[in-house]
Amino acid sequence: APGAQRFIPPQADTLDELRAAATGCRGCELYRDATQTVFGRGDASARVVFVGEQPGDIEDQKGLPFVGPAGRLLRKAVDDAGLDPAHIYLTNAVKHFRFEVRGKRRIHQTPDRVHITACRPWLVAEFAQLAPEVIVVLGATAAKALLGPTFRVTRQRGELLPWPAAAQRPEDFHQVPVDNTGHAADAPPAQLLATIHPSAVLRADNQDVAYDGLVADLTVVSRALA
Ligand code: URA
Ligand code: SF4
Repeated sequence: APGAQRFIPPQADTLDELRAAATGCRGCELYRDATQTVFGRGDASARVVFVGEQPGDIEDQKGLPFVGPAGRLLRKAVDDAGLDPAHIYLTNAVKHFRFEVRGKRRIHQTPDRVHITACRPWLVAEFAQLAPEVIVVLGATAAKALLGPTFRVTRQRGELLPWPAAAQRPEDFHQVPVDNTGHAADAPPAQLLATIHPSAVLRADNQDVAYDGLVADLTVVSRALA
């Protein structure tokens, strides 16, 4: 069967075990051209978990998520919103870098639905080891993974949402040893908040306005946790 599910150790009960197993994932074709799997990192007891799109060029080389320019901007926004950047967990909807070679450069390519679906079992398995109060969905790809294809970040950003029914369809999460509510079985359900991706801030015509919008959305999270 395609997808990451068969690479997930059924008995895994730590993020480190999942991370180790993910190095060998071949659940879609993206492992072939990328350097390595880039798994989530951060505070396992974080109250806020961030889900991005996929590793970028630098993340692919270093093997860690959000270590490039988008990650730097995100941590600054987290800090400016009154959240502690030392107590978050960061991961991606897709764990291998998808790119296209142009000359000597590797150009980011947005993952397709097939990659998002293939990789989602890792995300669900991570959630099962975490107990976030809020999951922050960064941009359209993460929104597709967690809120379904009809969700529009531009329309629904900055709102705290209950864990969505879209994320609970059993056909999407078959055989995943969790209760599919975005948190460990013994933790209360997480809420979800979508906002723009930090890379979209870097690409924006008016970066200051885009940045302030990101911080405003994240401030909704910090107020909810205060
Ligand atoms: N963008 C992402 O979505 N994730 C990363 O890890 C880096 C950049
Ligand atoms: Fe596995 Fe995800 Fe990498 Fe595809 S992108 S090979 S599903 S870890």
